[in-house]
Amino acid sequence: MELNQIKEIVTLAHSRFSSIHTGEAASYIPELMRANPDHFAISVTTASGESFSIGEAEVGFTLQSTSKPFIYGLALECYGKEKLMQTTGVEPSGEAFNSIIELEEQSHLPFNPMVNSGAIAITHLLKAQEGQTRLDRVLHLFDRLTQDKTEIDLAVYQSEKKTAHRNQAIAYLLRHFGVVDDLIDESLDLYFKQCSVVSNAKKLSLMAATLANSGIQPHSQERIFSNETVRDMLSIMFTCGMYDSAGKWAYSVGIPSKSGVSGAIFGVVPGQFGVAVYSPRIDQHGHSIRGLRTFEFLSESLKLHIFEPKGTL
Ligand code: DON
Repeated sequence: MELNQIKEIVTLAHSRFSSIHTGEAASYIPELMRANPDHFAISVTTASGESFSIGEAEVGFTLQSTSKPFIYGLALECYGKEKLMQTTGVEPSGEAFNSIIELEEQSHLPFNPMVNSGAIAITHLLKAQEGQTRLDRVLHLFDRLTQDKTEIDLAVYQSEKKTAHRNQAIAYLLRHFGVVDDLIDESLDLYFKQCSVVSNAKKLSLMAATLANSGIQPHSQERIFSNETVRDMLSIMFTCGMYDSAGKWAYSVGIPSKSGVSGAIFGVVPGQFGVAVYSPRIDQHGHSIRGLRTFEFLSESLKLHIFEPKGTL
């Protein structure tokens, strides 16, 4: 697909959905309410590294749950699939991202690594190694994905930490069932930091482009994730990335995607491009409202659904 064709549709989506003013920025992490609710950016980066953006594509936001697939990928690379399958399942939960009833009945494992319980358990796996602290490992991953120095928004981190009673309850339930060990407080702290990594639409689309390019960062040509890791990351994003609306998303958009409560959504069109939308007004599932509309529109207009008939052999 030509970048010009994408530009045209992205520009149309931006002008069409700028007029949506429903929803508000997330308030359960008070600092997130400081975002300008009318900011709206769409960025696309192709698997070959060309990019196009419209709107406030360099305005910073925190990754929140859009960090989860990348940390899952890092853990897969470091500890392998067998270990990860002993830590979380890969089943859609049909529940909200912060549901407490997120542990499978028999195994007591989290349903999947995209909901908070699973993401916290995955972050817990990351240990200090070869002179790198646990946080260094997280930051270094995002440095490599963006070819930039990664920063944490300390105000958002502190705000989340102060109001994190629900995530603490989830973490202690994981501890109770032996999914994690006593270092859980430290791991929760790391999880809050990974969620508070500062990004923007341009950078997030570049991160997505690495997945569109089978794990190779399009600018540096560094292989960050193996083909198999990318396949696993995208499978889980497709089935679980949008939580309790993942089925509807798979049906109507058909692009492996992940949202974050800061108002970001990114999606990956394998072999073609990564796309990121930022608009802080979110719905009851924690998804950006303009983001949802944009993805539906892009998918429909550019025929991006992964099961779009491509002709017969
Ligand atoms: O754990 C939390 O509640 C947040 N740091 C992240 C939640 C989130 O982004 C949910 N996604 N839409």
